[in-house]
Amino acid sequence: RSALDPNTEHTLILIKPDAYRRGLVGEILARCERKGYVISALSVVEATPDQLEAHYAEHVAKHFYADLARYMMSSPLVAAVITGEQVVAGVRCLTGGTQPTQADPGTIRGDYGRDWGSGTVENVIHASDSPASAEREIAIWFPELVR
Ligand code: PPS
Repeated sequence: RSALDPNTEHTLILIKPDAYRRGLVGEILARCERKGYVISALSVVEATPDQLEAHYAEHVAKHFYADLARYMMSSPLVAAVITGEQVVAGVRCLTGGTQPTQADPGTIRGDYGRDWGSGTVENVIHASDSPASAEREIAIWFPELVR
């Protein structure tokens, strides 16, 4: 049973610690709202190792995971459920490509993301890549909504 409206689409975003520290939370949420989407849930959280391993289950074994986990635990982050027609694809469009240097200008990562020489990518935002991923990820960050 879900507290979220089953008749419309939802996606999960994480406004990553670099964006939280830089004061970009309002800007990123504003871009979602200006596009016509609605914020259905919002939370400032300090990610735990278990939460991150669940969230990034398909990447835990990859070479970059240690850097990724350190980055995601470097300060609080903001988790949000964003709602609207085709919101999963729409928010991925707003987000832009994974690598900040290559992400298109005008996208969130293109405008705010940074690549560091050390190899860590600070790409500002995570957004679910499919409705199935969104459902899985919402359960990790907002368990109270899906119980
Ligand atoms: S893969 O191997 O192509 O499937 O990986 P990719 O889709 O590019 O990335 C998976 C997630 O890991 C993040 N990532 C990183 N974060 C920090 N530092 C480094 N070096 C790094 N490499 C990959 C990437 O942003 C993806 O996370 P999300 O949160 O979904 O953007």
